[in-house]
Amino acid sequence: MHLKRVVISKVKPTLQKSIIEVYCMLFPECLRIADLGCSSGPNTLTVASKILDTIDLTCRCLNKKPPVFQVFLNDLPGNDFNTVFQSLPSFYEKLEKQKGAKFGPCFITGMPGLNSQPYMAEL
Ligand SMILES: C[S@@+](CC[C@H](N)C(=O)[O-])C[C@H]1O[C@@H](n2cnc3c(N)ncnc32)[C@H](O)[C@@H]1O
Repeated sequence: MHLKRVVISKVKPTLQKSIIEVYCMLFPECLRIADLGCSSGPNTLTVASKILDTIDLTCRCLNKKPPVFQVFLNDLPGNDFNTVFQSLPSFYEKLEKQKGAKFGPCFITGMPGLNSQPYMAEL
């Protein structure tokens, strides 16, 4: 678990740079995030959350209205999506507390199925 956190923090600067570049090139009304191999645990929403933080900060700096977010959490059908869904109310509550009611909205969905590129988070 610790190693995953280390990996997430190592890729964070690259992830942030890429997200800002893509966002500022397109200024999309809706931003879709796919986490391929999201698992069900303390890290499940970490990468998506870091992307939301980055976009929130960028929008504040540029005085732009934040886009709508759609987050697709993919993992194998045996993944414990129920636990992930049960964590969503507190995730949404935290999001509203930190970023205000005008942020998003952010819709999170579970996508059980075998993908051909596990362990990747994409825009
Ligand atoms: C190392 S864990 C990473 C979990 C999570 N992203 C994290 O950072 O804690 C890899 C996850 O990918 C899932 N996985 C492996 N192969 C997959 C595939 N072909 N399609 C979808 N998910 C897959 C596993 O079930 C597992 O939950």
